Amino acid sequence: MCGIVGYIGKNNIKEQLLDGLKELEYRGYDSAGFSIMKDGELYSYKAVGKIKNLVEKAKDFQVEGFGLGIAHTRWATHGKPTEINAHPHFAEFSSIVHNGIIENYQSIKTQLEKKGINFLSQTDTEVIVKLFEDNLDNDAFKAFKTTINELKGAYATLLLTQKEPKTMFFAKVGSPLLIAKNDEEIFFASSDAPVVGKAKKVIYLEDGDYGYVKDNQIHLYRDNEETKLNWSDLPKNKEFAQKEGFRFFMEKEIYEQSNVIVETMIGRVSEEGINFEELDKNFLDGITNITICACGTSYHAGMVGSYLLQRNAKIKTTLEIGSEFRYKEPILTKDTLFIVISQSGETADTLEALKMAKKAGLKTLAICNVDNSSIVRLADKTILTRAGIEKGVASTKAFATQVMVLWMLSNYFGNINEYEIFMKISKACEVTEKLHEKIKRLSKRYLHGHGFFYIGRDVFYPLALEGALKLKEISYLHAEGYPAGEMKHGPIALADPELYTIALLSKNLLFDKTKSNIEELSSRDSTILTIASEEIETTDDFIKVNESNHYMIEFYEMMIITQLLAMEISIRLGNDVDMPRNLAKSVTVE
Ligand code: AGP
Repeated sequence: MCGIVGYIGKNNIKEQLLDGLKELEYRGYDSAGFSIMKDGELYSYKAVGKIKNLVEKAKDFQVEGFGLGIAHTRWATHGKPTEINAHPHFAEFSSIVHNGIIENYQSIKTQLEKKGINFLSQTDTEVIVKLFEDNLDNDAFKAFKTTINELKGAYATLLLTQKEPKTMFFAKVGSPLLIAKNDEEIFFASSDAPVVGKAKKVIYLEDGDYGYVKDNQIHLYRDNEETKLNWSDLPKNKEFAQKEGFRFFMEKEIYEQSNVIVETMIGRVSEEGINFEELDKNFLDGITNITICACGTSYHAGMVGSYLLQRNAKIKTTLEIGSEFRYKEPILTKDTLFIVISQSGETADTLEALKMAKKAGLKTLAICNVDNSSIVRLADKTILTRAGIEKGVASTKAFATQVMVLWMLSNYFGNINEYEIFMKISKACEVTEKLHEKIKRLSKRYLHGHGFFYIGRDVFYPLALEGALKLKEISYLHAEGYPAGEMKHGPIALADPELYTIALLSKNLLFDKTKSNIEELSSRDSTILTIASEEIETTDDFIKVNESNHYMIEFYEMMIITQLLAMEISIRLGNDVDMPRNLAKSVTVE
């Protein structure tokens, strides 16, 4: 996830771009840059790290009067966060910023290299601008159209070229982009935040939209025809804009999951097989087993991974909690692949466990959401989850993408390809209005009582643990996750009408066994909410997931439901959903 800004006007262009980037810093901040077209000349600045470094670097650059500018704040996907890899990217006389991933960049690059075109960066973005100039005869818009038609993947992009110095080109597929305006200025941005308070009207571009701005006129093409501009009003409140209309960041992040899950898969999942450019073919040489180590939600994702790796890759996999692993005097052998999972990449317990594994000479792999974090820098190899910045303290989209990486890894190591199923997950993560409304209504019945049991079997057991953790973190109600079959070994003693059970009942995995466990609780008069594709008689409440042919599709649908349920209960209790008491987003202490 990156952020892009564009500005056309005469009102302090440099500050407009830098202010816009600051508003988008939540989308990534490992490097930033801008290009300004002024009187036919392109002026560009880039810096590694946060926007303040770019501000410092460009402090002596003065520009007055009318100009066109594009700017970018980066969240690295292809290539390390260096100045060369920072945007804008250049060809001979053009400059580009881009958010998204170009899946076929490698083949375009090879094709251009054969023509003698050189590349400076490791990014996918540089191929767009180089391809544009290669396509350019004398009609820049035609060259731009030809270029975007050759791209596969996701992009929101802005391009400036000295061949048409008064024009800005734009296109959007997959990644967000809007155009906003007031009487004298035109803005582009990845979200509302940079333009609220500056512009009055907005158009949220749709996938496939492209066009250009020239002489203060916007030419927007939809389905390859120039289309009318349908402006709507911009919200006036900044925080509202950052949350994109959602009540909480957590809510926004729950809704984002169906998109970020695609980002996680891009370039890795295809009909031909699973591919990780981060790993080489011999990665598993000498490895006979895997240890996964993590904390909290990341640990729960790791537990899902342990089921999937054993089932799909047939590799013995053990699981460790970071804080326990450190002091248990673990026996570490070099035939073990040590996988650490962390959203932040800074969790002290996980980091220390990784140090121990490295010291013992184990091969290490990090699954992480933050490039260049301490864990990423230390591990031998890293797979980035690409969830984008997660602001809500209660992790949601990071979990969804961690599970996705582990599932893809189980296919990669097992040399199998569950392609058809992977392709259904984005849809499974969509939140429909009907579902959200149902959960909102139901939540009022689950505000009191003396506690919650979340139960499930197999991968639904870690999902039960995660569902219970979400609820405790933001509602402050007591909740425990249990393997459904374990209830009769003690916890069932607590069962009564004030004990709420949230039962995760898969149609595709151990249906009868889990159903019997639900019935055992029901006959002790526990109040039960079952989440399943078909209603069972012994349940008090029921939330339906779609009929499907694979347990991972059910898994993701149930994940969304448990996250929404926790959030709606917390909202009804009047809690601060995004910043719950006693917690911090990044736990850098032991
Ligand atoms: C999740 O909702 C929590 N806030 C917490 O359990 C978190 O997952 C844990 O602290 C680990 O963090 P990490 O993924 O950044 O390492």
